[in-house]
Amino acid sequence: MPRKKLMAANWKMYKTPDQTRQFFRDFLPLVANHDRDEIVICPPYVDLLSALESAKGSNVAVGAQSVHWEKEGAYTGEISAGMLQDLGCTHAIIGHSERRQYFGESDDTVNLRLKAALEAGLTPIVCVGEVLEEREAGLTEDVLRRQCTRAFHKVSTKKAGKLVVAYEPVWAIGTGKTATPELASEAHSLIRGEAARTFGQEFADNLRILYGGSVKPENAKALMAEQEIDGALVGGASLDPKSFAAIVKY
Ligand code: PGA
Repeated sequence: MPRKKLMAANWKMYKTPDQTRQFFRDFLPLVANHDRDEIVICPPYVDLLSALESAKGSNVAVGAQSVHWEKEGAYTGEISAGMLQDLGCTHAIIGHSERRQYFGESDDTVNLRLKAALEAGLTPIVCVGEVLEEREAGLTEDVLRRQCTRAFHKVSTKKAGKLVVAYEPVWAIGTGKTATPELASEAHSLIRGEAARTFGQEFADNLRILYGGSVKPENAKALMAEQEIDGALVGGASLDPKSFAAIVKY
């Protein structure tokens, strides 16, 4: 069975609750009845409720941009997987490169967050990807292998069920530089290989691996045509309803 693509919007630190409602008012009619692909919007935490209320009864799911690994406790500023699940969120981005770069996210905390998200029944979107210096030094494969192995550490195949991975070469994020479909495909094959090593071939064959990094309406079709690419994680171009709808409908 072909893998259903997941088209995910990562709004980062953009939009207020009002702007979120406005986005959904404009976006939902543009993707009404679109069921070829799964669609999820990941707004800032404070917009989740507005997004969920706006998306109710539609074909659009709502996810968070991170998730803490403890169920509750003295962790000022954090949000647990159970809280997100209770609110109605179904997805959570984990280990985005901006969290790794600016907020001390490590392979180990990615692993903890992944386990908590799976435990709560969320669909985790685990981000991996090399920075420019790593690519130029020929270290891309090593980096991706390390990030995958450590993210998947002690996650059983049975529990990994809803796992989604996003390949986001850091040099392509917000820079307007996109990985060529071929280059992305190569990285995706490597990630699928790592998943096969940890979870078995059957799991890996069903695993969705998204591409992220300057995905736009103009390049979405070519990227999505690659057999290895099972969807997109879109930052900048997901903030405008028309542009994200065009990507979803590539
Ligand atoms: P971009 O961001 O589409 O703006 O490059 C992608 C991401 O960071 O997920």
